[in-house]
Amino acid sequence: MREGSGTIGHVDVALVESLTSGSGRALLDSLGDYADQEALALSTRLRAQGHDPGLVTAALAQARLRARAAEKFGSAAATLLFTADGLEQATRPELADRHAERFVGAGIDLVHDLGCGIGSDARAFAAAGMSVDAVDADPVTAAVAAANLRERPGTTVRCLPAQEVALPAGEAARHTGVWADPARRVSGVRAVDGRARRVFSLQAIEPSWEQVCRWAAQVPATGAKLSPAFPHGALPSGAEAQWTSWRAEVLECVVWWGPLVQTPGRTAAVCRPGSPPAVVTEADLRPAQPVESLDDLGPWLLEADRAIVRAGLTGALPGRELSPGIGYATDGAASTLPWLRSYAVIEAMPLRPKVIRSWLRSHEVGRVTVKKRGSAVDPERLRREVTAGLARLEGEATLVVTTIAGTGIALVVEAG
Ligand SMILES: C[S@@+](CC[C@H](N)C(=O)[O-])C[C@H]1O[C@@H](n2cnc3c(N)ncnc32)[C@H](O)[C@@H]1O
Repeated sequence: MREGSGTIGHVDVALVESLTSGSGRALLDSLGDYADQEALALSTRLRAQGHDPGLVTAALAQARLRARAAEKFGSAAATLLFTADGLEQATRPELADRHAERFVGAGIDLVHDLGCGIGSDARAFAAAGMSVDAVDADPVTAAVAAANLRERPGTTVRCLPAQEVALPAGEAARHTGVWADPARRVSGVRAVDGRARRVFSLQAIEPSWEQVCRWAAQVPATGAKLSPAFPHGALPSGAEAQWTSWRAEVLECVVWWGPLVQTPGRTAAVCRPGSPPAVVTEADLRPAQPVESLDDLGPWLLEADRAIVRAGLTGALPGRELSPGIGYATDGAASTLPWLRSYAVIEAMPLRPKVIRSWLRSHEVGRVTVKKRGSAVDPERLRREVTAGLARLEGEATLVVTTIAGTGIALVVEAG
């Protein structure tokens, strides 16, 4: 691994390496779940015990990152190293496993992970039995990935620009895959929190979208993880773009090429713990039958998961869409489809605060949760306005604010 001078927070390459073995590793592992308010006293004590001050600072920074990483990585966080940006950009292990499944399913035995970050996807590829050539241009990140992949046989980690990786072509590429998870942060440009600034535009990712497409042209089994804001029009012909949500939050849009494509075009995968992913494709779209007024509303409101909305697949909703593309439909019955939620409609009103407030008062409702889609309304402001003077009322209600034929409506609903 190339030595480098890059630092993130208090960590540099030499310190990362000293945290992976011997007394540095023992020091880090001894910190466990320390609390932030103990950091100063702990740091003073460890220095007084003779530990190198730089190592103490780096170990404390890692312990803090491990605590933050537990939400994403569970108990594995306590065995991994992180950088702040690397943790934020790392793929959730549950989704990394899904990426690995695609490569395995296509008969791939070696994946070039071109911009491997701290190695979350690379760990999943290795755990699925594939060899991994993991590469990152940032020396500290590559050192962290090397630490995180050290016990994975068949894995190498190199620090170099991904563009310099020699990839096979033609028949030689048959069992080889390329994985790109371009950085959505611009290095060198810092946001107010001191972290690299986030970018969402396809033009501002690194490695570039053009570079990713060149890799896909050379190595057919290529996958690229992109922002959920991926523009539909940019999808290359024959490829699949899959928007994926985890616990109802849309985390990624992955473009798959060649043998990794399961269904060409736009697809959505709705993932949650304990159940198989629900996949929706363009083949599920039904002829549009939009609602024209409040009179068309049935007794149930169906709400599509946001991955379906991002993928432009709300036309797959049963019933009739309230407004095309927003992700709400009305129907005569609740649905058991795993990618939507059903709400019983208790009341439907025009979006007029006075009308809503009067309904709330007559139903003794003083506490309201406002959900909105497809409306410019500020939900918190509306909540305050419609509940003004009703605080003493015990009742609670959920108010859905959206539009029908361009006109604002408010629905009082109950989760089905
Ligand atoms: C989004 S992160 C990858 C996260 C990774 N998939 C994971 O799950 O941990 C993107 C990484 O690409 C690296 N990168 C950006 N441009 C690169 C380039 N031209 N060559 C190699 N690495 C690059 C960045 O340093 C960053 O660590």
